[in-house]
Amino acid sequence: MIVTTKDLFEQAYGKYAVGAYNINNLEQTIGLFRGNLGKKNSNEEPTNPATSAPFIIQISRGARSFSDKRFLEAMIRCAEDVFPEAIFAVHLDHGTEEVAYECIDSGFYSSVMIDASHETFDDNIATTRRVVDRAHDRGISVEAELGMLGGVEEDISVDADHACLTDPDQAVEFVERSGCDSLAVAIGTSHGAYKFKGSQSLHFDRIEAIRNVLPGFPLVMHGSSSVPKEWVDRINKAGGNMPDTSGVREGDYLPAAKLGVTKVNIDTDGRLVWCAVYRETFRDKPADFDPRTAGKPFMAAYADFITQKNKMLGSAGQLEAARQGLSVKS
Ligand code: G3H
Ligand code: 13P
Ligand code: ZN
Repeated sequence: MIVTTKDLFEQAYGKYAVGAYNINNLEQTIGLFRGNLGKKNSNEEPTNPATSAPFIIQISRGARSFSDKRFLEAMIRCAEDVFPEAIFAVHLDHGTEEVAYECIDSGFYSSVMIDASHETFDDNIATTRRVVDRAHDRGISVEAELGMLGGVEEDISVDADHACLTDPDQAVEFVERSGCDSLAVAIGTSHGAYKFKGSQSLHFDRIEAIRNVLPGFPLVMHGSSSVPKEWVDRINKAGGNMPDTSGVREGDYLPAAKLGVTKVNIDTDGRLVWCAVYRETFRDKPADFDPRTAGKPFMAAYADFITQKNKMLGSAGQLEAARQGLSVKS
């Protein structure tokens, strides 16, 4: 069942964070649905209520053009049929105004992000407001962004010195004037695999300051991958060459969720799983060249990765409560 992110956030706020996972291909799509239903090796395994979770599928502009946006839509609609128990939102990640309108008009997306965070404060508000007006007419939720994360997102690269944390007072004005449904905030994270030197962490003081002026309003954390050493080591042992790196501590997700971080964006970690499994598979079976030889263990590994991640977000085991909450609402 496709629902809006607003619907999901009403169920989750202050209790747990909803995982927002980027996908680009079929194997990721299947692994994602399985993992959120507590399945691992096959679509036919019974759903495990103890680990099932509501979730968000994120589609970046890069993902839309990688194959063709119609393939993504077809795959997700098919997954909805194959996994009828799933509750999820379909969300545009880091949209421009033009692509946000395409998604709003598509009748498929239930949520869009308009990322005008590189514009001036007033222009960011004006752009977001236009997207909000069009999206709300169609019952679609809108995420906006205020502040500047470090790292690379789509075609924009920001070095750590130019990243700036979200200002709480500006956040209040931004939310009031733009009408957005959730706000991506810069709280010390950055996109990609190379986030922190040494032992930097989230700026919990800033999250709390924003929560204090926007109580009850869903905040979004981009750049939330934890870049697990285990996966980086596996990649390097199988022929990769990733320098030493670290990401967001998984143990920080739930404390952040209690402070209103209701959506946690994860792309890089899923890519690490993909890379490790494919490298290892063909290293260990050098005579093999069947895409399914690596695709099958990848789907299982990705499903397991999602289930484990959801445990850290606190969303694992929340699917039935979310279903009940949504049915009471409707
Ligand atoms: O924030 C960026 C996301 O990780 C999407 O990455 O544009 O390479 O698909 P992508
Ligand atoms: P990561 O690069 O940390 O996975 O962040 C992904 C993201 O924020 C997508 O919008
Ligand atoms: Zn992002």
